Parts: sequence; C-alpha cells; structure tokens
Amino acid sequence: MLTADDKKLIPQTWEKVVSQCDDAGKDALYRMFVAYPQTKTYFPHFDVGPGSEQVKAHGKKVVAALTNAVKNLDNLSQALSELSNLHAYNLRVDPSCFALQLLAQCIQVVLAVNLGKEYTPEVHSAFDKFLSAVAAVLAEKYR
Ligand code: HEM
Repeated sequence: MLTADDKKLIPQTWEKVVSQCDDAGKDALYRMFVAYPQTKTYFPHFDVGPGSEQVKAHGKKVVAALTNAVKNLDNLSQALSELSNLHAYNLRVDPSCFALQLLAQCIQVVLAVNLGKEYTPEVHSAFDKFLSAVAAVLAEKYR
C-alpha cells in the first residue's frame, strides 16, 4: 500500500532520474539480460548486443509505460491494462518473471546508480512497492 509520502516521492524521483538519464530504460534492460540471461529468450528477434538500437528503443517504451504508471498511482490496473493483456496473451511472458521482478530489480539498480546518496531507504521502499504493484498488474491476466 503506497503511503501519501510514497505518492509524493515516486513522481519526484522518477522525474529526476528520467530527466538526467536519457537511457534509464535501456540500462535496465541490459542489466536484466546480463543478470537474468533467461530473459533473452523472449527477445529472439532483438539484437541484444552492446549499442543495439532495438534495446534502446524498447527502453524508451518501458520508461514511457512507467511514466504513465507514475501518473496513475491510484489506478494502475486500469492504466496498465493493455500492457497487461500484451504480456499475458500475446507475449506469454512466464508470470514467474513478474513474481521475481526481473526487470523491476534492474530498474532499482538504475535508480541507485543515478541517484547516489539520494537513493535513500525511503526511495528504495517506495519504488519497491510501486514496481511490485506494476509487476502484479502485468501478471494479473494469467489467472
Ligand atoms: C514489450 C513494459 C516486464 C518482455 C513491452 C512494452 C512495454 C513493456 C512498454 C512495449 C509494448 C508495446 O510495444 O506496445 C514492461 C514493464 C515491465 C515489463 C513496465 C516490468 C516492470 C517484462 C519482462 C519481460 C518482458 C519481465 C520478459 C522477461 C517483453 C517483450 C516485449 C515487451 C518480449 C515485446 C518486445 C517487442 O517485440 O517489441 N514491455 N515490460 N517484459 N516486453 Fe515488457
């Protein structure tokens, strides 16, 4: 459950990170491919090597989706409904990827790298709750 403080901290922090780091999404995706190489099996049609334009473009889409989620903290299910359908019905990403928060963990690392000391326990906790909620929505259509 996001507290009133979380709901202030999440948009402020997200805005800061995406304004100072143009490639936050790309960085998170590369981290996911390296840390959890099994995730690459969902991207057989992608060049996942260094400097890939596809990963860069996909990173922008992920950031845009999260920006939309940040703007809709009180109705994530509705805001991410299409994305949830896509991952469950079209892409058929195994729900364990969301339960283990494979991309979410990598987003946390990108936040930490970019924020340094400003990646406080409060920021960590707020994003843990937010990203868990996003992952839960992306996994909810499988039931
Ligand atoms: C596509 C977001 C987690 C695999 C997408 C798209 C977005 C997105 C915005 C593009 C949708 C479109 O083109 O309309 C997210 C978010 C995640 C997440 C916010 C979690 C925080 C994952 C995970 C996997 C995955 C864990 C698999 C390991 C894919 C694949 C595509 C995709 C294969 C299609 C790529 C393409 O062919 O263009 N995702 N995703 N996603 N996602 Fe996710």
